[in-house]
Amino acid sequence: MKDAQPKAIYLKDYEAPKFTVLHTALTFLIEEEATEVHSLLSIQGEAAGELKLNGQALELVSVELDGGALSEGSDFSVDDDFLVIHQIPAHCKVAIKTRIKPQENTALEGLYKSAGMYCTQCEAEGFRRITYFLDRPDVMSIYDVTIIADKSKYPVLLSNGNLVESKELEGGKHLAHWHDPHKKPCYLFALVAGDLRHIEDRFTTMSGTDVTLRIYVEPQNIDKCDFAMDALKRSMKWDEERYGREYDLDIFNIVAVDDFNMGAMENKSLNIFNSSCVLANSATATDNAYSRIEAIVAHEYFHNWSGNRVTCRDWFQLSLKEGFTVFRDSQFSSDMSSPVVKRIDDVNLLRTAQFAEDAGPMAHPIRPASFIEISNFYTLTIYEKGAEVVRMIHNLLGEDKFREGSDLYFQRHDGQAVTTEEFVKAMEDASGIDLTQFRNWYHQAGTPELSVTDQFDETTGDYKLFIKQTCRPTPESDKKEPFHIPMALGLLDEEGNDAQITLKSDGKFNQKTQVLSITEPEQEFIFSGFSAKPTPSLLRDFSAPVKLHYPYTREQLLFLLAHDSDGFNRWDAGQTLATDIVLELSEQVQAGEPLEVDDRLIETFEKLLKEDSSDKAMLCKMLSLPSLAFLIEQSVPANVHAIYTARTFVRQTLANQLHEAFLSCYQQNHDDEPYNYSAEGTGKRSLKSLCLHYLLESDQGDYSQLAISQYQNSDNLTDQHAALSALANSRFQVQAKACLDEFYEKWQHEPLVVNLWLSMLAGSDRIDGVEGVEELIAHPAFDIKNPNKVRSVIGVFAGQNLRHFHTQTGAGYEWLADKIILLDRLNPQIAARLVGPLTKWQRIVGEGGQKMRNTLARIESTENLSKDVYEVVSKSLV
Ligand code: PHE
Ligand code: ZN
Repeated sequence: MKDAQPKAIYLKDYEAPKFTVLHTALTFLIEEEATEVHSLLSIQGEAAGELKLNGQALELVSVELDGGALSEGSDFSVDDDFLVIHQIPAHCKVAIKTRIKPQENTALEGLYKSAGMYCTQCEAEGFRRITYFLDRPDVMSIYDVTIIADKSKYPVLLSNGNLVESKELEGGKHLAHWHDPHKKPCYLFALVAGDLRHIEDRFTTMSGTDVTLRIYVEPQNIDKCDFAMDALKRSMKWDEERYGREYDLDIFNIVAVDDFNMGAMENKSLNIFNSSCVLANSATATDNAYSRIEAIVAHEYFHNWSGNRVTCRDWFQLSLKEGFTVFRDSQFSSDMSSPVVKRIDDVNLLRTAQFAEDAGPMAHPIRPASFIEISNFYTLTIYEKGAEVVRMIHNLLGEDKFREGSDLYFQRHDGQAVTTEEFVKAMEDASGIDLTQFRNWYHQAGTPELSVTDQFDETTGDYKLFIKQTCRPTPESDKKEPFHIPMALGLLDEEGNDAQITLKSDGKFNQKTQVLSITEPEQEFIFSGFSAKPTPSLLRDFSAPVKLHYPYTREQLLFLLAHDSDGFNRWDAGQTLATDIVLELSEQVQAGEPLEVDDRLIETFEKLLKEDSSDKAMLCKMLSLPSLAFLIEQSVPANVHAIYTARTFVRQTLANQLHEAFLSCYQQNHDDEPYNYSAEGTGKRSLKSLCLHYLLESDQGDYSQLAISQYQNSDNLTDQHAALSALANSRFQVQAKACLDEFYEKWQHEPLVVNLWLSMLAGSDRIDGVEGVEELIAHPAFDIKNPNKVRSVIGVFAGQNLRHFHTQTGAGYEWLADKIILLDRLNPQIAARLVGPLTKWQRIVGEGGQKMRNTLARIESTENLSKDVYEVVSKSLV
């Protein structure tokens, strides 16, 4: 991007709109060569003036004001971004006709075609690619939508709200007219036209309204909708019980599309889903896919209140709806399965990927103050850290007060477009708890760090904790005000039991888990009544999104792992121990010293494997080493290859020394019961698959037959996938290839299964580096225009196959850059996301990091970069 560099927009420049649109009537005339969009806007303002409408990639056909034609130049002007009508009265009707070409739309924003069907994606700023409009969430309008299309090709015509008319027209066409009684911002508009089948069900709401539920899919997928429908009904019920939120229309539709930039979209009463987030049966979806589908169906449904009924004033407030809704869906998922395991998964994602984002050049507060391209801000920070912030409010207020705060928020702001401030205020007003300092979480980026030390006084029995909080500089600010950090604390006595926690100054605590409010840069807490030094269990259940430092000895970690009553911290003690061991070994790798794994880790694993644990999912988490990505984050600047070598050495040592225990655990959890997606079944399968992975790494025996027979005999994709990926990563490459080839042969007509196959190959430890992944790109199964395929191959290789991506020649970086440049012409949002792995260049040691930076510079010097890629690349080079 050489000339005209894209400009940032700022929260501080926010101004309320001068005009609003009371009613929006849209007519879509869908034809193969182009679609005409007729829009009739009922406009209202406080005074007459200039009307400036957003529009992009539109062909303008005509503009009328109150029935009279306007002329370009004298009445209005139009450029690449705006249609400006020089003077309109305070109340008027503006009629605009535009022409668009959905079939050429590869950016997948606005109206586009996916596998023969028309569909839309308008969040955040896609509506301006459909027609000229006040494309901002604080302009809310009532919509009437008429769709006219060929009846045989597009028998199903859908939009938001209720169907009020449908009829046949001449020339084989038909028409559908939809009316949405709820006013909404244009980002929630949706339209679908296609040859679709549906399943139907009903839900009766708590006040007795009967709602029709439908899931629309391409004909071949009709047998993959039942699970999502069930998840939808459970979500509707849960939201009534937990939040008192009732559905507000007679119909709720979900449509599955193959080409979609994100997971799914909460358009009012017409959710559009990436097919990977809705379609499932035991043969074509893994347990992981099932749980993801359940969470996303719930997430989009929950948006009906947290997002649609109460929406965002501007896009800086994105976390208002996303943070709250992710928090809500995580509560739901946790109620549907195991709370500790759900917490571990969430924290793993947060600490591995969100912390990295918060430490990198794109770091931003959950309520950013500026951006160049809003699409780049659908981030882990907005979503996951945003949810953690809501979670802290929940824990500070307690369940009852939090619910009162939520009720107050929905009641006060129903039908409004508001800011995160209104959310916090409602929580404060309902609870009487002062959140003044807590608000720092909203406008300061970066991960706070807590450094904890302690001291025990034998004569008085006092135990002191010293807590220091710091936060590194991030792009928006070098200086940080202290955060209000709720730190849940337990103190274990010598037997490993929770001691009563009594604050010396304030005898009334007397709890087993005490939440300390950390508000100062440095704070001291004194607890009394101990006969020996207790072992602190800090930040229980990960009570705040912070990095914790306490000089635990390995003995203390083993003690916590064995005794902590907090499940999360038991797991975390094991992770900290393993991290310490792997990182120490990685130093030894670099020093060329001989390697040896601390016996205590091996003994712990052995004990865990032999324990007759009923919670298999939890046991699987306990036996999983921290990922390479997580370990890299713990060791900055990181030597990827040394860490990889050390981690592999630990895995192989465990596999060699404990293969018999892994085998018997495998056998205990392997049965012939027919597949059924359940918390228990998922736990068993995950544990079994972990054992299989270890077994295939052991050189104490040839366990390849075990994997092959699991692959051949199992009735479900979860087990087949586990077996295939264990083989793909093992030394048994001949067997792996035979099974993987057969698998592809069998499933080549199921895109979601093919994507899984692609991702297994792209993520394999044994891939032939950049040449290997380039073969996948050339494979007929790959399609660069389909985001799911791009994620399965390019995303997995660059984001997960870190050993090969960071190959010392730098070939991985150059390869990725070529793909980004190519994709930027087709789909800038997806291209910008792929820059992510390169932005971490400062965290990679030495020449490697430098090579990554050079690659970014090469991308930046490319002509005509999109705003999306330009923003990420230029910020990363600063
Ligand atoms: N709002 C969607 C969600 O999180 C995500 C999304 C954003 C989808 C932008 C498409 C485009 O539920
Ligand atoms: Zn969302």
